[in-house]
Amino acid sequence: MEVIIRQEQKDDFESVFQLIEKAFEKEEYSDHKEQFLVERLRKSEIFIPELSLVAEIDGKIAGHILFTKLEIVNELDTFECLALAPVSVLPEFQGKGVGAKLILEGHNVAEKLGYKSVVLLGHENYYPKFGYERCSKYNIKMPFDVPAENCMVIPLTKDGLKKVYGNVVYPDIFFQ
Ligand SMILES: CC(C)(COP(=O)(O)OP(=O)(O)OC[C@H]1O[C@@H](n2cnc3c(N)ncnc32)[C@H](O)[C@@H]1OP(=O)(O)O)[C@@H](O)C(=O)NCCC(=O)NCCS
Repeated sequence: MEVIIRQEQKDDFESVFQLIEKAFEKEEYSDHKEQFLVERLRKSEIFIPELSLVAEIDGKIAGHILFTKLEIVNELDTFECLALAPVSVLPEFQGKGVGAKLILEGHNVAEKLGYKSVVLLGHENYYPKFGYERCSKYNIKMPFDVPAENCMVIPLTKDGLKKVYGNVVYPDIFFQ
């Protein structure tokens, strides 16, 4: 199975909308509105076109991942980082490594663009295999009332989180 990971194009928007809807359909912890979140984020200032990626298998869009701009703020500094949200793979293609390819290529592109870290809210068993650690380890606080194990962060470079701590600030657009 050849999986091509590439930047999302305008022509992909409709397939991506449907794929996200299907991917999250049976997810217990989902509000089933992630496809609308992606539509809002694409039109926002925090959107980075190079970091909206699709996975194509035999000409079909089977997966999508989006990283947007975010800040970690403390009394002294503001640090630019990325939010990974959401990542979706069509149910019939899940468990075949497509999600992993999207995450790893996303990290690759993000690092090349100069981003130093990624935060996310997600399944505690999935993301650690890519190097994600608990935000609490770095004294990074998420604005959500969720278990600490679901709040994760990864440095994209060796010193990506050096001296970085504070509150993660998600723009309002995430909550509309
Ligand atoms: C989560 C998701 C993107 C993973 O993509 P995928 O292509 O199925 O994942 P991969 O094939 O790369 O990885 C499969 C591995 O992840 C594990 N995994 C997949 N989904 C998981 C989940 N929801 N929780 C925990 N582990 C999960 C599998 O057990 C498998 O483990 P293994 O490598 O040890 O065998 C995909 O399952 C999906 O779209 N789920 C619905 C939407 C969703 O929940 N998105 C994430 C929001 S945090």
